[in-house]
Amino acid sequence: MSLDAARELLACPHCGEPLAPADRAWACTSGHSFDVARQGYLNLSGGPEPANADTPTMLEARARVQASGLFGFLSRALDDVVPAGAQTLLEVGAGTGHYLAGLVESRPAARGVALDVSRAAAKRAAHAHDRVASVIADVWRGIPVRDNSLDVVLCVFAPRNLAEFARVLRPGGRVVVAAPATSHLRSLREKYGLLGVDPDKQERLLAAASGHLVHLAGVMAKSTTTAAADLVDDLIGMGPNAFHAPPRAAATERLELAVRLEVFGPLRQGGA
Ligand SMILES: C[S@@+](CC[C@H](N)C(=O)[O-])C[C@H]1O[C@@H](n2cnc3c(N)ncnc32)[C@H](O)[C@@H]1O
Repeated sequence: MSLDAARELLACPHCGEPLAPADRAWACTSGHSFDVARQGYLNLSGGPEPANADTPTMLEARARVQASGLFGFLSRALDDVVPAGAQTLLEVGAGTGHYLAGLVESRPAARGVALDVSRAAAKRAAHAHDRVASVIADVWRGIPVRDNSLDVVLCVFAPRNLAEFARVLRPGGRVVVAAPATSHLRSLREKYGLLGVDPDKQERLLAAASGHLVHLAGVMAKSTTTAAADLVDDLIGMGPNAFHAPPRAAATERLELAVRLEVFGPLRQGGA
């Protein structure tokens, strides 16, 4: 774990001044100071966790699913669309930090900030990679990162504050948003009455982004596999269905996984 990976990237959530390490805390020149947690993350949220923050149980299920390799196809697709030379990366709603850690690992000069509003997620992400810093912040209250400072903003199944993504992106940088396609886990959703995928989600994302970012490419990443009942349970329990008392899976399931990746660049001249 290394908060050092966030050097020269973080900004004070109160006044926007640069934040720098100072003893067991990070502080800005205006005197705002934030303690480093014993578990290695920095809490910049200043407020209570919202109701949709992932719980420790959800994080455990997500970690087991990611360790199983079920979403390896998504890691590979992200690696393909993220520029090989990217050095400063941020994942919003990073959860365990799994995808960010994979991208940093395959780019020896890269470092990353895993941002999440959940304390349980921040604890895990603090151990995701020695070039990943873990920070608690609510993306809807602003991203505590300096203007024009990031090569890549990553958002995988997480909330998007597109105006903030555009603000923190440097000229030539990339925003990558990954979201479930309508066919993602369809059979599972139908069989267990799980939350659906909004068929207009992609259209709404592109429309909402148009005032802030330029859409550069769209990629579909897919995988078909078989998962044992325990893994199916974890798959259901690691996401928003966990908030709705989902049924337990009793059988091995054949699954289709389908994730749509949208790649954006900066709107301003000189970008992209
Ligand atoms: C579905 S999980 C995805 C986690 C990770 N990107 C992955 O794919 O493994 C969504 C994550 O977004 C976080 N989240 C929800 N609301 C948030 C907010 N307002 N600001 C930052 N993170 C948030 C949750 O705590 C959770 O970890």
